[in-house]
Amino acid sequence: MVRVRPVHDADLPIFYAHQLDPVATAMAAFTSAEPADHAAFMTRWRRLLDDDAIVKRTVLVGDDVAGHVIRFERDGQPEVTYWIGRAYWGRGVATAALTALLGEIRERPIFARAAADNRASVRVLEKCGFRVCGHDRGFAAGRGQAVDEVILCLASDAAT
Ligand SMILES: CC(C)(COP(=O)(O)OP(=O)(O)OC[C@H]1O[C@@H](n2cnc3c(N)ncnc32)[C@H](O)[C@@H]1OP(=O)(O)O)[C@@H](O)C(=O)NCCC(=O)NCCS
Repeated sequence: MVRVRPVHDADLPIFYAHQLDPVATAMAAFTSAEPADHAAFMTRWRRLLDDDAIVKRTVLVGDDVAGHVIRFERDGQPEVTYWIGRAYWGRGVATAALTALLGEIRERPIFARAAADNRASVRVLEKCGFRVCGHDRGFAAGRGQAVDEVILCLASDAAT
């Protein structure tokens, strides 16, 4: 069973291990430049945890920490992002976690971005009712090169 709850400090070493996964980093593409930089990781998460406008949720599978899902703002618009540890991929965990977050956060429209070739992430978003509403291209530190990105939107009248 997949649940979400507020992030605990004890979850952070698990999130750190997740972002060290080179397969996941390449997939996500738009990541920190130095995933192994623990100080930078902790600085980022302290900033996230201290900001009440950012909704952070730990994803649990049973009692195990499987990843996280976040609502933040980009240029004043609400956006979601998520990261699931590879051991839990392909079991509907991201879809269930994002569905839970979207149940808590009723604001619409709400946006998301994914590397255009991150088919799993685009699929998760589509299963949650998001539709492609734009395209972008930018430098992706996780790949060290410019990468095409899709912007997806969940509208107020979206049918899931
Ligand atoms: C992307 C990610 C969140 C997916 O997590 P997950 O728990 O495996 O996702 P789910 O199981 O809920 O759904 C994945 C869907 O993508 C599909 N999928 C997976 N790989 C795919 C591929 N290469 N092409 C097309 N569809 C694919 C699955 O079949 C599934 O769809 P289905 O239910 O219709 O069969 C996870 O791989 C991850 O955290 N990756 C690293 C970080 C990342 O990319 N975060 C997103 C940043 S935008």
